[in-house]
Amino acid sequence: MAGAGQVQWSSRMAFMFAAVGSAVGLGNIWRFPYVAGENGGSAFILLYIGFVFMIGLPVLIAELSIGRRSGKSPIASLGAIAKESKVNKRWNLLGHLGTFGGGLGLLSFYSVIAGWVMSYIIQGASGAFVGIDAEGALAEMDTFTGSAGTMTFWHFLFTAITVIIVGKGIKGGLEKAVTYLMPMLFLILLLLLGYSLATGDMEKTTEFLFTPDFSKINGEVALQALGQAFFSLSVTVGTMLAYGAYLPKDISIHKSATLIATADTLVALLAGLAIFPLVFAYGLAPDSGPSLIFKTLPIAFGQMPGGSFIATMFFVLLTIAAITSSISLLEPTVAYFEEKFNMTRWRAALIGGGTAFIVGLMTVYSSNDAKEFLPLAFMGLETIGTKVANGGEIMLGITYATGDIMPAKLATMGNVIDFGVSSIVMPFGGFLLAIFVGWFVSRDSMRDEMGLPEGGVFEIWHVLIKFVCPIALAWVLVMGLM
Ligand code: PFF
Repeated sequence: MAGAGQVQWSSRMAFMFAAVGSAVGLGNIWRFPYVAGENGGSAFILLYIGFVFMIGLPVLIAELSIGRRSGKSPIASLGAIAKESKVNKRWNLLGHLGTFGGGLGLLSFYSVIAGWVMSYIIQGASGAFVGIDAEGALAEMDTFTGSAGTMTFWHFLFTAITVIIVGKGIKGGLEKAVTYLMPMLFLILLLLLGYSLATGDMEKTTEFLFTPDFSKINGEVALQALGQAFFSLSVTVGTMLAYGAYLPKDISIHKSATLIATADTLVALLAGLAIFPLVFAYGLAPDSGPSLIFKTLPIAFGQMPGGSFIATMFFVLLTIAAITSSISLLEPTVAYFEEKFNMTRWRAALIGGGTAFIVGLMTVYSSNDAKEFLPLAFMGLETIGTKVANGGEIMLGITYATGDIMPAKLATMGNVIDFGVSSIVMPFGGFLLAIFVGWFVSRDSMRDEMGLPEGGVFEIWHVLIKFVCPIALAWVLVMGLM
């Protein structure tokens, strides 16, 4: 069988590039800076870092360990560890939830935004931003989101790239792609950072990003920080289980995972430091939220020396970051199809990617032709929509006056999908996974896989996954749905 079990990453470096590539994505460069900016700057950042290492990291370690233990697809590896631990094999349903509800669901709208980002490479390079003002930038954005055809084209293109890379296999596709793309990503990030530090307004940036405003921290903000931590680390959607399956036995999981989390956090911080100095230097508003990079940054690009080049580089950077993440979203499905139905990778990637593409059309149409279609209108709930707004306006470019509050009854199809994945599937999957690993999985199996002695690091990990993670995640779920 062409199962996942036989393939391995060629080196630790290849694995690190792939895993960091998965973690570093739109979440770091596009989402983190504005969410941090909106939610109290460094107070939020401190909270975020706490969540990354106390809650995200233990889950990441668990996923990589379970994946490597069986060397199979996420669904099968959860079944295998359940069997080994002599508990109900049906825990593998968590794998179904993550792989399809999480991974494919996320890919469906991730590739819509990534396609949009990719189209802005052309805008940047063609000089479309030169001298653009706020009105012009907004018009540019509206033209894009208003056209179902254009959005579909870019969504298709991005999905196709993802399918091709994944179809080519672990070594010939994923590994090769990340080996080229990740160094490029770091290089471009450093270049932009240098430019920004040299020409931008650092003083305002540090004030905005790094002056703690603890009065802004409340349940809602904490929730945002935790959600962002999970999303950014690529956990709970099968990805890290799948990547763990290709991990050679001699690689230390807890060390690699810590490095992944650290690199991911650093990139998010550096992205903020690359973006805001420019925003401030041109007197623009830093809190335009999700549309920061599509509406605000182009105005800055349009005025700065060499702006077209910088703009092009910026959107290339984002596209690279998105590709190395989207391939990891498709991998769990492909590994499963290969294993379960003995499919070729190509066919599996086409079916998985095709499904995500079709589901993604709902997100595409939500910002134009089907803007008026509000599937939850009958519910008339006021509060459930709060979180929808956070995710929803992000991809659709629709601005809601107060930013955060959008009643469920006003949610478009795209909002509903985003809400379902980010606010239900991910925290719920994470909660169940933590319960499973902490309370049902054999402690010795995990310890053996992690290659650690009793006590010390292992004990800390076990306490976090057994107690801290479930409690924090249950809280997220309850608060998030209230
Ligand atoms: N971590 C990615 C980002 O920050 O953009 C998003 C992501 C990729 C989430 C892969 C989950 C995943 F499995």
